[in-house]
Amino acid sequence: MAVDAARALRDRALPMEARFTALFRLRSLGDDRSVDALLDALDASVEPSALLRHECAFALGQMRAGRAIERLIEVMEDEGEDGMVRHECAEALGAMARRESRAIDALTRACGSSTREVSETASLALRKLKSGSVDTGSTVGSAKERASANERVVDGDDESGATPYLSVDPVPAMAASTPMETLERVVLDDTEDMYARYGAMFALRNASYASASSSDACADVLGRVLATSESALLKHEVCYVLGQLQSASPGARDALVRCLEDAREHPMVRHEAAEALGSIAHPSTKDYLETFAKDPEPIIAESCEVALSIMRAEQDNVFIGVDGTVAVIGT
Ligand SMILES: [Fe+2]
Ligand SMILES: [Fe+2]
Repeated sequence: MAVDAARALRDRALPMEARFTALFRLRSLGDDRSVDALLDALDASVEPSALLRHECAFALGQMRAGRAIERLIEVMEDEGEDGMVRHECAEALGAMARRESRAIDALTRACGSSTREVSETASLALRKLKSGSVDTGSTVGSAKERASANERVVDGDDESGATPYLSVDPVPAMAASTPMETLERVVLDDTEDMYARYGAMFALRNASYASASSSDACADVLGRVLATSESALLKHEVCYVLGQLQSASPGARDALVRCLEDAREHPMVRHEAAEALGSIAHPSTKDYLETFAKDPEPIIAESCEVALSIMRAEQDNVFIGVDGTVAVIGT
């Protein structure tokens, strides 16, 4: 199975959506062969799509593939590589939750990077690793995350480092007891510490999961962050969280559309906005995704193609495999 998925991931004649389905499958299998396939595709001389390379880095971090650490460091430090891919490598090193000196040293160097998304991510990852904080994450998620779910049975702290979460947060969520007004104030304040803003954002997401009545209100706050914040890093993560929330809030949906259609916005933000719209799967946004699937920026066009397949999967609860097989995804 890993062999088929690895072959599909490599096959540039296949549509991007099929290659992403293969990537999700490899993340879910999580064996050595799958890690090797993802490492191969992380190489820019092998794989021209920055979108695909960044998703491989993300997957390796979420899988906590210790064997990938060396390569993730190399790619993070490669100044010729796309900023979004380098950012994702830094985030993956943080997600590993291993306080290995080579990762700590590399992240410390990356804090001085002149590429803002790399330096900001490295400092968050470093702080998380050094704090030894308990993981937080999401046990629910979009069709993409459900298709990527780890197949191994996980009960607490398993030796492979696997977690019970569909996704591990790059910064731990603030305590559930934090008042809603505090979370809202911190996440919206552009002068606040980024680590605190991330923590507030994940706490808002968790509050939204915990109570259906606060769900739209939380999504609205996150939508306001998209409209007002200067940080591309924060905004891309807000988009990701809105995709996890799958909120019906029209305010949040509009904010995501504004991000996608703003050509001056960082491609990393526009990409996550597209995928979040796919995950929310509201019929009113399908036209936007179809329009931007023709965007001249490959990261945006490919993201919209993948987002449309996530939208179909959300609506039908299935992903079409690379060989045409239909896989029902867990809920
Ligand atoms: Fe990211
Ligand atoms: Fe992404």
